[in-house]
Amino acid sequence: MKKLAGEKAAEYISDGMVLGLGTGSTVKYVLQKIGELVRQGLDIKGIPTSMQTKKIANEYNIPLTTLEDNPEIDLTIDGADEVDSRLNLIKGGGGALTREKIIAYHSKKVIIVIDESKIVKALGIDIPLPVEVVKFGWGSTKKALEEFGCTVELRKIMGEPYITDNSNYILDCEFDRINDPEGLEQEINNIPGVVENGLFIGLVDEVIVGSKQGIMTLGKEVVS
Ligand code: 5RP
Repeated sequence: MKKLAGEKAAEYISDGMVLGLGTGSTVKYVLQKIGELVRQGLDIKGIPTSMQTKKIANEYNIPLTTLEDNPEIDLTIDGADEVDSRLNLIKGGGGALTREKIIAYHSKKVIIVIDESKIVKALGIDIPLPVEVVKFGWGSTKKALEEFGCTVELRKIMGEPYITDNSNYILDCEFDRINDPEGLEQEINNIPGVVENGLFIGLVDEVIVGSKQGIMTLGKEVVS
């Protein structure tokens, strides 16, 4: 299902584009396809949203650039952990949310690729909301986040704190459900020490869903 969605998204790419390259296992199929198209002569440049994506893009010989050299991105293709009916997202399962949000914000068009399990009635139902925080004072930042009524865990990998590509920590905030994603996104980012949170509000143009029935495309207004 992820492969179906990833390959479909690659159809939106055309010659000369600057592409934002998202992160995750679904995007890996997009990168694979882009690599194939580049071998066949497609002329694009990609801006990776993580070290992981940069490594994969290099393996596929995808030409890379930076936001400094190409500040206008034509199209970004990324994954998501949850998608609601208004195409708002939770991202950051892979820890790349800050760079992903910067890239999405500066893109003319953002396409999200998911399998059908990621569609939810309300954000926060299935997975915690990741929040990237600086290491300094992280315990106090955690307490401030708990004021929103969530349970907060420092993300760890093999018993050690997970470190983002920006050398920060991730605090995973478990809510029963998020009733006001727009408000919460802003309020969390107002806490000193918070770098960015995984709520992506109003940034997405289209969601390509791989399902057992095939491909489904969710647009801002039209569902086909
Ligand atoms: C990384 C992300 C990913 O896009 C998200 O976790 C989805 O990953 P996958 O396609 O592997 O399910 O936000 O920070």
